[in-house]
Amino acid sequence: MKKQVVLYKKLSPSLMARLHEQAEVTLIESLDAQGLAKLRDALPRAQGLLGASLKLDAELLDLAPNLEAIASVSVGVDNYDIDYLTERRILLSNTPDVLTETTADTGFALILATARRVVELANMVRDGQWTRNIGPAHFGSDVHGKTLGIIGMGRIGEALAQRGHFGFGMPVIYHSHSPKPAVEQRFNARYGSLDELLQQADFVCLTLPLTAETEGLIGARQFALMRPETIFINISRGKVVDEAALIQALSERQIRAAGLDVFEREPLNHDSPLLQLDNVVATPHMGSATHETREAMARCAVDNLLAALAGQRPANLVNPLAWR
Ligand code: DGY
Repeated sequence: MKKQVVLYKKLSPSLMARLHEQAEVTLIESLDAQGLAKLRDALPRAQGLLGASLKLDAELLDLAPNLEAIASVSVGVDNYDIDYLTERRILLSNTPDVLTETTADTGFALILATARRVVELANMVRDGQWTRNIGPAHFGSDVHGKTLGIIGMGRIGEALAQRGHFGFGMPVIYHSHSPKPAVEQRFNARYGSLDELLQQADFVCLTLPLTAETEGLIGARQFALMRPETIFINISRGKVVDEAALIQALSERQIRAAGLDVFEREPLNHDSPLLQLDNVVATPHMGSATHETREAMARCAVDNLLAALAGQRPANLVNPLAWR
């Protein structure tokens, strides 16, 4: 008998067809109130779940007594209670690797956009305000040759270091759990304490996962260590940063600018003070959002789910203790 899968994310026709071949599929088209009600109705029979951008807490998952596997179409797994899943022996998988390069591209897009004031100046042209050659009031700052600071030297951190080192001749300083000699050799990178990095980097880039340990890692004290030239980039998770402290640091020009793809609350409220600041470039959590990468992520998630439901260990198992 085919397994019951609840999809809370639309897939491409080819992936949809693949899933239909192997499973009975219930599709939740959107996560609005109606969609969530449909999800609740479907959970009691679900053996597999596949989707993203939904906090699947115990209250919801207690409705799914038959659940065997969740395939998240994301690399981040902060929407899941891993201990709870492990206790219930529900296999959680994610989609690492396939989004690394694209997410690092987004990081660099924000570095360039903030340093060279791309959005602000493009809006000036669009608004008909380009009436004479621009002068120092509109100049940006160089990217090449500046110090790139990376907090969290995982896959995406490395891809950022690669771009900075080889593409822009940037000295790289990084901070992570422990030094990574191979990274230091490849990118001529230097390990520093968090405080050293905050004081020395021209670009402070966050590429950390959100965990109990990293939540609120960057707050008022950390912004105070940065310099007025520092540009802050966040492509990880909004909650790693104390957003009120960030707004204050930007408003008081304690730091020069911020490029933000992630926020404490998403979607970002349109009356957020961040949107009043001309030294902020805000993007809609689009780190991995290209046609090619999102399709690759979805394919990876389908592979993970079908493997798990067939009794095989999925390639990207997040909670190995749930594997028997
Ligand atoms: C990820 O894959 O974790 C991205 O941030 C999308 O949520």
